Amino acid sequence: MAFRTSLRLVAAARPAAARSARFYSQATTVPTSSASSVTAAQIKRDAALSHPDPAEDSASAALVREHAPYMVATYARPPPVFVKGEGSYLWDIENKRYLDFTAGIAVNSLGHCDPEIATLIAQQAKTLMHASNLYYNPWTGTLSKLLIQQTLASGGMHDATAAFICNSGSEANEAAIKFARKAAKVTSPSGSNTKHEIVSFHNAFHGRTMGSLSATPNPKYQAPFAPLIPGCRVGTLNDTAALPTLVTPQTCAVLVEPIQGEGGVQVASDAFLTALARRCREVGAVLIYDEIQCGLSRTGRLWAHAHLPREAHPDVVTTAKALGNGFPIGATLVNGWVAERIKVGDHGTTFGGNPLACRVAVRIVERLAEGGLQEGVVRKGEVFREGFERLRERFPGLVEEVRGKGLILGVQLSEDPAAIVKAARERGLLVITAGTNTLRFVPSLVMSEEEIREGLGILEEAVAATRK
Ligand SMILES: Cc1ncc(COP(=O)(O)O)c(C=O)c1O
Repeated sequence: MAFRTSLRLVAAARPAAARSARFYSQATTVPTSSASSVTAAQIKRDAALSHPDPAEDSASAALVREHAPYMVATYARPPPVFVKGEGSYLWDIENKRYLDFTAGIAVNSLGHCDPEIATLIAQQAKTLMHASNLYYNPWTGTLSKLLIQQTLASGGMHDATAAFICNSGSEANEAAIKFARKAAKVTSPSGSNTKHEIVSFHNAFHGRTMGSLSATPNPKYQAPFAPLIPGCRVGTLNDTAALPTLVTPQTCAVLVEPIQGEGGVQVASDAFLTALARRCREVGAVLIYDEIQCGLSRTGRLWAHAHLPREAHPDVVTTAKALGNGFPIGATLVNGWVAERIKVGDHGTTFGGNPLACRVAVRIVERLAEGGLQEGVVRKGEVFREGFERLRERFPGLVEEVRGKGLILGVQLSEDPAAIVKAARERGLLVITAGTNTLRFVPSLVMSEEEIREGLGILEEAVAATRK
């Protein structure tokens, strides 16, 4: 128990914990310590840790217990309760500071609570938050225009024309799937019953709505909700030879992440994406690049596909996550061919495109598109890779492979990383996993090299602790 076993933490953390607990819930009773229940083993363990997970009688645990009955239990979370963020760090309710290699799962690309973004949110909240899509506002259009201009300037999707703004990644993919279905119907009305298939790939993650889930071929996510939407087919990433039978005249859409995030940071090869794009054109299928996790400069270019030749460019790009730096927003960018086939009334959203989210996203896109930031991403990616190399040397047999690009990186381990993730957290570093036995690194893009080295040092200590 943190309060009892570290005098330093008792002094520093308890008043903050008590304050925070009161702030977050009037009804919460902050537990008092009673040394009698502490075991010798617990004391020894906690004394060695700077950030031991909050114990059963902590303020954190009390708050979690109080809230749990009222929350649908869709997530299993570790014990800390986070109350504050700044730059590369998060603070828990017990006032312990954690270095964050997760950035809210590739969301807080400009770091936590960026002061400029926070000020913009406050200003726009006092000006106009929402007036509905029944009326014009200056910001939905400004964001759409900026996304298209920056996409063209970045060397990505050369025929990007228009954007549909929504609230999340799943919704961005949902819109993409609907647009592809509509485009197929309009283009070949006689074949509209057959040209409806949606192709995606093993280990893909496209979201949790029924359409995006149907293209997310993971039994854990799909099985409880079957039957899914009809006509979904699954291929293997980088299996170019299979494309002629996978993508056929019945295919209306192909969804692919240029770098699969949740699937374990698996990179689609340039040759595969080029062949896929060519095949889509042959059969008249809409090619959708899901850049929700890997896009918006995470690879060092605005889009992960921006270095590809024009012939490998998609018809649709979806984005979300970093677009709002934590403020919910998503977008579906389409080329002219798709845009022409979508008519008034075909699709819509109440909140999507609201002036608050869009104004914030405009500034975020401007900042994420800066060359200096993108160069930094590449440099910082190298710092991570050097750290992974040290891990590989120090712990033979542990690191099987390092994958990814820029600041979306995966370290394939030969074992379940759960113990390492916990050991890192208990030393003040947050990391997440992906796929099977992959440690995933998706930090803020503005994290300093010094912070990265600090985190890598903690990670090394954490791994060492799990070897004992
Ligand atoms: C590649 C990709 N697509 C789609 C989604 C779904 O986004 P959201 O959770 O915002 O609906 C995610 C979320 O992790 C993602 O990583």
